[in-house]
Amino acid sequence: STLPTSKQFAQKDGFRFFMEKEIYEQSNVVSDCMLGRIQDEEILFDEIDSSIIEGINEIKICACGTSYHAGLTASYLFERLAKVRCNVVIASEFRYKEPLLTKDTLFIVISQSGETADTLEALKMAKNAGLKTLVVCNVDNSSMTRLADHTILTRAGIEKGVASTKAFSTQTVVLWMLSLYFAKQNDKISKETLQKEIHALREVPKSLIVSDKMHEKTKRLSKRYLHGHGFFFIGRDVFFPLALEGALKLKEISYLHAEGYPAGEMKHGPIALADPELFTIALMPENLLYDKIKSNVEELSARDSTICTISPLEFELSDDFIKTQKTDHYMLEFFEMLVVLQLLSMEISVRLGNDVDMPRNLAKSVTVE
Ligand code: G6P
Repeated sequence: STLPTSKQFAQKDGFRFFMEKEIYEQSNVVSDCMLGRIQDEEILFDEIDSSIIEGINEIKICACGTSYHAGLTASYLFERLAKVRCNVVIASEFRYKEPLLTKDTLFIVISQSGETADTLEALKMAKNAGLKTLVVCNVDNSSMTRLADHTILTRAGIEKGVASTKAFSTQTVVLWMLSLYFAKQNDKISKETLQKEIHALREVPKSLIVSDKMHEKTKRLSKRYLHGHGFFFIGRDVFFPLALEGALKLKEISYLHAEGYPAGEMKHGPIALADPELFTIALMPENLLYDKIKSNVEELSARDSTICTISPLEFELSDDFIKTQKTDHYMLEFFEMLVVLQLLSMEISVRLGNDVDMPRNLAKSVTVE
């Protein structure tokens, strides 16, 4: 029989899937992840000290899959908040592009498992070139934590669903905190801005709480959205990597064709695909570039794409609307939208009868090249 045994049910704390349990856990694990790391008006990591950024002019990030999306998100935060140059490369690309490595670069790898072959090799290359290295990882005593000079653990707990959820939210929080740590150490941030950022950080667990209303809404939408032939996830700034992550989740467990795009790029090609069968999921935060994304969505609407907006503000041209809470920081909108995207892909996958926790062709950890 396909019914879960009582032991399996208990492991999932009464949730249908590990993925569902892990989505619901995010609020708590993110609190764990911040515990002791935010003190008064400062960010502290027991694992590192200020010597980590001495002589550093640039940050290079390497990762794969969902962890790469956390890295892309962080690149906006490192440049915006810490004023340090930051670029992000997919580990399998980095390895063979003959990258130029200079010792004024801090090399950061991000990995849930600490075992992904391409990321591990990239870390070895950076170490051999004499760079300072740091891993943001969920598994202590993994290959990467043993190799890197420094480790920051994400404290998400064991993640079983192949589609990564709580690993991503904790990685993003760690990297946001790290950008503030660097900003403060290098004297690149005003007291007021730092206070504002820390205040927002403390609110993240609240933004990650799954409300019944939101979950119900994604269930209802999944009835129609499972018929989509193609999906565009669009966003700008940090909502672009979030769009990539939303598209990846849908691909991974629903096997539907989905692409994430920076909203401003639609007119350079992708918009040619727009028609009523194309579903656009538009991330429209109130606190970042709202008018810019709005005009991108208007263009898609004019070409008859079916549009679902995720936003605190109602938008007259959208066919469907998932309302998020009003906040005063775009990163809080980011985390709430993340939950919406995770739930939506999960509910579509459920309706299609797929194996949510163990999607076809995928592995939790890819230890071969
Ligand atoms: C696999 C998993 C993804 C994950 C990626 C990187 O492809 O299915 O969910 O994002 O590996 O894994 P890592 O453990 O290095 O974060």
